[in-house]
Amino acid sequence: MNNAQTLKIDPGPRSGSGDPRPDLRGQRLDAPPSALPLMRAEDLSLVYDSGRTRALDRVSFELKAREFVAITGPSGCGKTSLLNLIGALDAPTHGRLFLGAERYPDLGSAAAFRRRHFGYIFQSFHLMPTLTALENVLVATADPGAGESGSALRERARALLAHLGLLGHEKRRPAQMSGGERQRLAIARALINRPAVLLADEPTGSLDTANALQVLDLIETIRLRDGLTVVLVTHDHQVSRRADRVLRMRDGKIFW
Ligand SMILES: Nc1ncnc2c1ncn2[C@@H]1O[C@H](COP(=O)(O)OP(=O)(O)O)[C@@H](O)[C@H]1O
Ligand SMILES: [Mg+2]
Repeated sequence: MNNAQTLKIDPGPRSGSGDPRPDLRGQRLDAPPSALPLMRAEDLSLVYDSGRTRALDRVSFELKAREFVAITGPSGCGKTSLLNLIGALDAPTHGRLFLGAERYPDLGSAAAFRRRHFGYIFQSFHLMPTLTALENVLVATADPGAGESGSALRERARALLAHLGLLGHEKRRPAQMSGGERQRLAIARALINRPAVLLADEPTGSLDTANALQVLDLIETIRLRDGLTVVLVTHDHQVSRRADRVLRMRDGKIFW
């Protein structure tokens, strides 16, 4: 599979009409200008080491539905810290986060919130080495009460893998796949729960140029097709110039 342009991404509708969750994906939002932003961060600070390291320093911003936002800045400026707060993987020392009108839950009870709203992609893929490709996608789905049967989920996971050019790779383990294939597998895992927001931390940092371009094209296709909001951390100017908006960071602050 060499040409990302030929791939069709169709994660399908959310689990039928009975799905009670508010659908925060862009294509379902007929947001009038006065509506709430998709996500809002107010005055976020994050300190480590009992205050010795200030990773984020009073950061405020909003994300709109369907936006492609790149976060750039030198190593250690707080990009990963900020992405982790947006994705409820960590909690701010100070400040507040909202998704739609909903305040982020406490970290201890955030697992379902994370699964429901966010997909994550990392530079080093973070796949489970002992699981097959299909199992790696399904690992993200354990949501008791979501109501979708195991076989329907597996079917959807297979369709996603096919759409990402990984047909026939379902039973392979990550070690049997190339870097580009692993990152496409990680994208499938990130999309299986039909998130509103895709968070990517230097997703092309471990890939050669051809695979990096393919991964970026796929993310863009998915975003447009599915109304996703994408927040992507990158060092690469070629990547950030494709974004709708760039948040430039330095010393734990966004300075534009
Ligand atoms: N778990 C942690 N414990 C202590 N310090 C950390 C931790 N994670 C990050 N830091 C520090 O916080 C700052 C911001 O880190 P990070 O958000 O990872 O930056 P970036 O992703 O831009 O390279 C750096 O000074 C880093 O050393
Ligand atoms: Mg980082």
